[in-house]
Amino acid sequence: MDGWILTLLTLVRLFQVSPITVKQDAFTLPTIGYRLPGEELKTKQTQSTFFCANECVRLDECLAYNYMHENGTCQLMPTADLSKAEPDEDFQIIRKKITCIDQPCMHGGTCRDEPTSVNDVRGYKCICPCGRCGPNCNKLHFGQVENACIYLFNAGYQKVESQQECMSFCWDTQGCRSADYINSQGACWLNSVTGDEEPLTMDCDKWYPGVAYLFFNCTCDD
Ligand SMILES: *[C@@H]1O[C@H](CO)[C@@H](O)[C@H](O)[C@H]1NC(C)=O
Ligand SMILES: *[C@@H]1O[C@H](CO)[C@@H](O)[C@H](O)[C@H]1NC(C)=O
Repeated sequence: MDGWILTLLTLVRLFQVSPITVKQDAFTLPTIGYRLPGEELKTKQTQSTFFCANECVRLDECLAYNYMHENGTCQLMPTADLSKAEPDEDFQIIRKKITCIDQPCMHGGTCRDEPTSVNDVRGYKCICPCGRCGPNCNKLHFGQVENACIYLFNAGYQKVESQQECMSFCWDTQGCRSADYINSQGACWLNSVTGDEEPLTMDCDKWYPGVAYLFFNCTCDD
């Protein structure tokens, strides 16, 4: 009987320790003296921060964990937002790194796994298509030439609220390469060509006061 229990305990122990190996660079360094507030996905007692990390790796929704060194309290959290962290001297926060497996690049961006700083949750870099910038290619990046437009080469039309919305409409419309936005009317005319291919007309302002030619900018700031 005792033998059975022992075997069972051994099995349970083995199972607990069963290695989904946690890669060293899969998490940031701890932010000591802070705790992420809010409802935890799961709370456990673990023998070390390593086992807590292992629990977090097993759970897709886990983005970070609060860990209490004293008694091994491990709180798996659905957020990694450090700006919400609260001071708590008993705890530390360890955040899960995001890599290309998580498909973080949007709008046709190409993902490359790249070791970033030990305190950065980003373990990747997005190579964005022309007109998209930001860590996840989430930002539209465009320039404008005032009082100019491309006449003809129409590829679509829509009323919009802003230049931003006009270029967003262009991005979503197949064949759109640039746009003419008439500020006074909120009119967004899409072009099937860019100003590099067809000359801009500087007379546009006579016909459409407040017009601006909008083009995607391929060069990001960072
Ligand atoms: C761990 O310590 C904290 C703070 O003292 C306490 O609130 C919590 O109940 C403890 N957990 C266990 C399982 O002992
Ligand atoms: C494109 O954006 C970059 C970075 O913001 C800027 O330096 C550059 O002047 C822009 N190019 C044009 C043609 O607007």
